[in-house]
Amino acid sequence: MKAPHEKRVSESVTTMTEYVLPTHTNALGSIFGGQVLAWIDLCAAICAQRHTGSAVVTAGIDDLSFDHGIKVGQVVRLAARVTATFRTSLEILVSVEGEDAMTGAIWPMVTAFVTFVAVDASLRPTSVPPILLETDDDRRLAEAAAERRARRLSRRGGGRGA
Ligand SMILES: CC(C)(COP(=O)(O)OP(=O)(O)OC[C@H]1O[C@@H](n2cnc3c(N)ncnc32)[C@H](O)[C@@H]1OP(=O)(O)O)[C@@H](O)C(=O)NCCC(=O)NCCS
Repeated sequence: MKAPHEKRVSESVTTMTEYVLPTHTNALGSIFGGQVLAWIDLCAAICAQRHTGSAVVTAGIDDLSFDHGIKVGQVVRLAARVTATFRTSLEILVSVEGEDAMTGAIWPMVTAFVTFVAVDASLRPTSVPPILLETDDDRRLAEAAAERRARRLSRRGGGRGA
């Protein structure tokens, strides 16, 4: 596999804005967690494709906890960025906020770490471009990502793929 050129984090930052309709909610008018998860996966996948320039598959999503809900008629704001790249996989951080477009209130809902694997036309894992760490924030997130990866790999079965 030829090593691809490194890319800036800013080149693949992805944002999405969704309006919460009755079809997205439960009987209490609060958004379904599964719907938020689907948007997280989509936003993160676009970010991963922008970074890798190839097709990607979702390998895993770390544990999630929803801090606050979002109700019908409110807005969901998603922002995804690459935190770290490995050999054929990369980690994406997605931050999700709620917004009341009428009052301007914004609140945090959930953050998610999603791991994608870049695949070639035969669906075999293929190498990903490294990220260029430019800011203290980039470096802090990349360092923490290495620890999360170690935990994932040990859960996967004795560090396979490290
Ligand atoms: C993800 C997948 C491609 C890994 O294939 P594999 O044969 O196990 O490949 P490898 O063991 O060579 O691992 C490839 C990379 O995936 C990573 N990986 C595999 N499973 C992982 C998991 N559960 N969590 C995080 N990373 C994982 C490995 O660490 C490795 O990364 P690296 O090259 O950066 O070190 C394969 O399991 C797959 O296709 N899963 C289904 C994906 C899918 O259908 N997703 C939902 C719809 S998109």
